[in-house]
Amino acid sequence: MIHHIMNRGERMKYRRLGKTDLKVSVVGVGTWQFGGDWGKDFNQPEVDRILNRAKELGINLLDTAECYGPHHMSENFIGNFLSRDRREDWIIASKFGHHWEDQWQNAWDTKQVRLQLEESLKALRTDYIDLYQFHSGSDEVFNNDDMWTMLDKQVQAGTIRHLGISIGSNKNIYQTNRASELNAKAIQVVYNRLEQEPEAEVLPSCMEQDLGVLARVPLASGFLSGKYKPGTVFTDNVRKNRDREENEAKLRLVEEIQRTEVPAGANMAEWALAWCLQHPAVSCVIPGCKSVEQVEANAKAVDLVRVDHPGTWRN
Ligand SMILES: NC(=O)c1ccc[n+]([C@@H]2O[C@H](COP(=O)([O-])OP(=O)(O)OC[C@H]3O[C@@H](n4cnc5c(N)ncnc54)[C@H](OP(=O)(O)O)[C@@H]3O)[C@@H](O)[C@H]2O)c1
Repeated sequence: MIHHIMNRGERMKYRRLGKTDLKVSVVGVGTWQFGGDWGKDFNQPEVDRILNRAKELGINLLDTAECYGPHHMSENFIGNFLSRDRREDWIIASKFGHHWEDQWQNAWDTKQVRLQLEESLKALRTDYIDLYQFHSGSDEVFNNDDMWTMLDKQVQAGTIRHLGISIGSNKNIYQTNRASELNAKAIQVVYNRLEQEPEAEVLPSCMEQDLGVLARVPLASGFLSGKYKPGTVFTDNVRKNRDREENEAKLRLVEEIQRTEVPAGANMAEWALAWCLQHPAVSCVIPGCKSVEQVEANAKAVDLVRVDHPGTWRN
């Protein structure tokens, strides 16, 4: 249990991302939010403030995607920031598989993916992406040797440092098991105190293959911050479209967890992130972030994180 391993006052901790040479901060920043779907539009100064603060706190990992906001919006915000910062200080994880035409559409053809890479590099204002992830496509589009061959050539050319797979379903063991064969070195999966399904098959397979694991949605879409009570009506594009009854059941469970598992006085968001980070397969969490206050709170989770984790970065 987390309160037995508390070690307050430590600074950022780092882990190796599977068999890559990447040293990632255990807490990263998820940037789907910068695309405007979460009930708040962003501007460049706000993004700069969040990312500057993240850097001060030792965070070096940003997770973005081709389709967070129209026309690579999240990537553009990050790219503008990077153009005034040291690119090499950051590990940029982005994704492929979608194309904007009035709205985001699937685009898994090899040529389309190649074009998306060009567009992402341009938006990010960089000549390489550290981790380029298959963005939650079906097994059918995943089984495209031509696409993986093209991506591998990009790895050889240096435009992509490493390939990854962001699995759409938490139990997609098929795509997880094929990762090493396709030269993919990291899996991104939904993993949090409310969603433990990956523990059954996906996380063991990642350990077996020595893949890095990015735990996404680590706050269960904000529910595990403990700030929402049953009866909350969501108005943002993401949470308002989810099943109302399911939301209610989750919020009731969160109340129970807060009462029975979270140590008195602890911040629940910090506790929830540290909960994910105690699994031996997990390299980092990538909580989505909307403000400087949130990035600060999320970075504090590191004080609850144990240093004897098998992924701990050793100099
Ligand atoms: N298929 C894929 O590959 C895929 C899918 C989903 C997400 N992702 C990635 O994973 C990242 C994280 O997932 P997510 O954003 O969906 O879910 P999440 O990280 O579980 O929740 C993020 C939300 O929690 C709230 N929050 C964050 N920090 C907080 C804090 N310290 N205290 C209180 N509330 C806080 C914010 O919303 P409010 O303040 O509005 O509550 C924020 O928008 C995304 O940004 C994206 O990069 C990838």
